[in-house]
Amino acid sequence: MNAAANYLRYRLGERRPVAAMVLGSGLGLLVEAMEDTLRVPFAEIPGFPVSAVTGHAGEVVAGRLGGRDILVLSGRVHYYEAGDAAVMRPVIAAIADLGIDRLLLTNSAGSVRQDMPPGSVMMIEDHIAFSGLNPLIGEASEGRFVGMTTAYDAALRTRLAEAAETVGETLFGGVYMWFSGPSFETPAEIRMARTLGADAVGMSTVPETILARFFGLRVVAASVITNYGAGMTGAELSHGETKDMAPRGGARLAHILGAMLEHGGFDD
Ligand code: HPA
Repeated sequence: MNAAANYLRYRLGERRPVAAMVLGSGLGLLVEAMEDTLRVPFAEIPGFPVSAVTGHAGEVVAGRLGGRDILVLSGRVHYYEAGDAAVMRPVIAAIADLGIDRLLLTNSAGSVRQDMPPGSVMMIEDHIAFSGLNPLIGEASEGRFVGMTTAYDAALRTRLAEAAETVGETLFGGVYMWFSGPSFETPAEIRMARTLGADAVGMSTVPETILARFFGLRVVAASVITNYGAGMTGAELSHGETKDMAPRGGARLAHILGAMLEHGGFDD
């Protein structure tokens, strides 16, 4: 077991989370809904990266949601902060080492579809690694040739969709395209994204999905839509808008996830 997993195992005691969740900016309200929480700052965990993006807390929160034990990672570090696509590798490796085999990834994203407005939640069905980067570059083992045909787990996707239906929340489905950031896209890039089959664009998640599949985790992912892509409205994009808008879709997503946990969506 690596040092980070060892430390977390000791801090978690008897807790046995059924899933780990990486929260994007503005999704902190999911943590507020958790009970019986234990908080461990990333800075205390050997090898964990520390983010400086405003709006990210940087802590592991263990607790209960929908009557199930979960492990939330709040405050992911992005490629554009680190210049390293594998910056989240210690985190994903620790989850796998702890024996947690299901990972939910969340993010905020821009919509490239007129019919998917800000405030929507989109389940990621597939992705396009448009940045051209890969977190497994330099990995020496044969395991680096990870199949990505079923990167987003079919059974977990079905359960997420069922949970949304149960609570009467609209859940879009679509393709997430990864841009490196930190600048937003241009209007031409958004038109390109649409032409190439993307439904949403963002600056995270894809490298984590690749790492998670490398470590054998089952992945389910969702985007909270905070804005239309560049050029789709008259307005300029800003990080302030992302932070202001994320709680709207975030409340929807928290509602859906609570139902998924409660109905055993992460149990097997
Ligand atoms: N582009 C990229 N990342 C984002 C966006 C966007 O429009 N909105 C929130 N994250």
